[in-house]
Amino acid sequence: MAALDESRLSVVVADVHAGREDEFLILAERLRDELARKQYARAETVRDQAVPTRFYMVRFWTSADAARRSHADPEMSGLRAQLSELALVAHAINGARESSMPRASVDRRGGLERDRRSGFDRRVRGAGGPEGDGPAGHERRIRPRRESERPIDLVGAARRVREHAAAAFSHFKVGAALETSEGAVIAGCNVENATYGLTVCAERVAMFTALAKGHRRFTRIAIVADTESPTPPCGACRQILWEFGGDLEILLANLTEGTGTYRLKDLLPLPFDARLLRP
Ligand code: THU
Repeated sequence: MAALDESRLSVVVADVHAGREDEFLILAERLRDELARKQYARAETVRDQAVPTRFYMVRFWTSADAARRSHADPEMSGLRAQLSELALVAHAINGARESSMPRASVDRRGGLERDRRSGFDRRVRGAGGPEGDGPAGHERRIRPRRESERPIDLVGAARRVREHAAAAFSHFKVGAALETSEGAVIAGCNVENATYGLTVCAERVAMFTALAKGHRRFTRIAIVADTESPTPPCGACRQILWEFGGDLEILLANLTEGTGTYRLKDLLPLPFDARLLRP
């Protein structure tokens, strides 16, 4: 039945930068009108009742092909690029419907299920409770990425958030984008301070933001800086990423190309972590 064709519905959760909601709504209307005029999709933008800067951009695509054409359409890409200046995409679901939600991670109230094990245990196979756990890294996904889902442009998200870096002292802007095992992307940039020691790196901002949003399982992180050679995470960030993210895949990139892919266990051999705190 066409109405239930799961490839035709997509929902983007957009967290709009505070104070830019009006601009966002005007742009969302333009996007809606263009999608309708080109017969790509019927679109609706719904504001979250509890979080005024959060919007759900729902699209009912005319067909799967219309969705593909829209994504390849330079005019639509231009509008999407403007949108990405105003908001961070917290979550994108293609083909969403209730039955496709990962049951293991969503409780009855629609929130993330609480995981009572401590940080390190959540990510280590066999180290957790009797329910066990999936393996680290990509295989840890709760559900396989379906073909209808667009690959997540993690490096693109890191490049975009890098523009928000508060790097008035070093002028060295860094962007980081974390992928959760549910497929959400949480981004962070470095934030510097006149008392230099209070500076927080992009990777930790991304991880702390993700934790504050309730995410607890992660698969990859992209880190972007404007350097020819790779900019790997600093030692402090490696520790934090390990404790909360485990053996993440680390994608390093500059503004135009990838500069390397690593596993965190190779960047942090012989780590200190919660296992060592046990009596
Ligand atoms: N920085 C990061 O954000 N991530 C890294 O991986 C390395 C360094 C930031 C911290 C500081 O604001 C600036 O880059 C220069 O060290």
